[in-house]
Amino acid sequence: MKEVVLSGIRATGNLHLGNYFGALSKFVRMQDDYDSLFFIADLHALTTHPDPKTLHGNVKNIMAEYLAAGIDPERATIFVQSDVPEVSELYLLMNMHVGIGELMRTASFKDKARKQLGIRNDATEGDIEQEIIGTNSNKRVNAGLLTYPTLMAVDILIQKANKVPVGKDQEQHLELTRRFARRFNSFYGVELFPEPENFNFGDHAVKVPGLDGSGKMGKSEGNCIYLIDDEKTLRKKVMRAVTDEGPKEPGLPLSQPVENLITLMELTSAPEVVQHYRDAYADCSIRYGDMKKQLAEDILKITLPIRERILDIRNDDEYLARVARMGAEKARERAAATLAQVREIMGITKFY
Ligand code: TYM
Repeated sequence: MKEVVLSGIRATGNLHLGNYFGALSKFVRMQDDYDSLFFIADLHALTTHPDPKTLHGNVKNIMAEYLAAGIDPERATIFVQSDVPEVSELYLLMNMHVGIGELMRTASFKDKARKQLGIRNDATEGDIEQEIIGTNSNKRVNAGLLTYPTLMAVDILIQKANKVPVGKDQEQHLELTRRFARRFNSFYGVELFPEPENFNFGDHAVKVPGLDGSGKMGKSEGNCIYLIDDEKTLRKKVMRAVTDEGPKEPGLPLSQPVENLITLMELTSAPEVVQHYRDAYADCSIRYGDMKKQLAEDILKITLPIRERILDIRNDDEYLARVARMGAEKARERAAATLAQVREIMGITKFY
């Protein structure tokens, strides 16, 4: 029997190169060798983007982007998270075995809570905790954000997935998923849930950097190249990417902004091109204008064909609906089987 692979992307907007290289491109490569399920996490989107006006469109968009990137609904199951209500029930049941403390210590929770409450970057864990539980503030962090890792674990465990292709930023969530699986299995003395692992074709998990010289590419950072960007927009973004003033002497290590561009090149350009620019930095002959032109060219080779397919598929409502319906049916059937097992194990059975 093939191993099960499952992954999802939140319905918070268009997909960017971080989503593509961290996740989507791996989905496409995995679909033949695994029993594959890929979904659109609309419930998770509610933790930060509770806007009914855009949610529906985002879900449809991401489905079109999945298909345009090469996920084949005949080979993989593509579905929308909220189409599988079994997930929500198991989320409730699983929360009975999850500690508030372990959720509060999750890096992504602290980060998002800090942003929602407008707390400074260097605040200590104690400061953040005080703000969250304090009564003075009229701001709040929603409990859905706190229990985000439970919902993610349930997405994975309800399908009994073995492999979960995600970017580096999601590794802590996977670690929690393994912990919840072990805990459930050992508490009830069963071997129900496999412990899932990240999957990267032998490489490390990817962290795609942004164009602003710091951190990772992310929607909330405003430093993204989107798969849907047209040629002009994309070139402009790359040409404006932050660099440094040029290496001051030969042999210096790459500065952070230049390293970011090299990382993007490593994902998109030929190895000899990357080596050329590394050498040029080392001997101080580098010209950032040329480097950026090359980078834009190489990114466009990947994104433009996808963009064209997105524009086509996005308007084909009937096709999108068919894919979603087919996926929902398959995903639900499997989820319902696991949920029935869990109910039995936990004693939520009928007495009549
Ligand atoms: P989301 O929408 O935040 O991210 C979707 C995927 O894109 C990856 N990613 C990146 N990878 C590398 N570099 C980046 N700059 C970058 N930005 C985003 C993320 O690692 C992720 O793989 N919690 C998930 C959604 C989810 C899920 C699941 C995933 C919900 N349930 C179950 C797997 C299994 C998330 O972060 O989505």
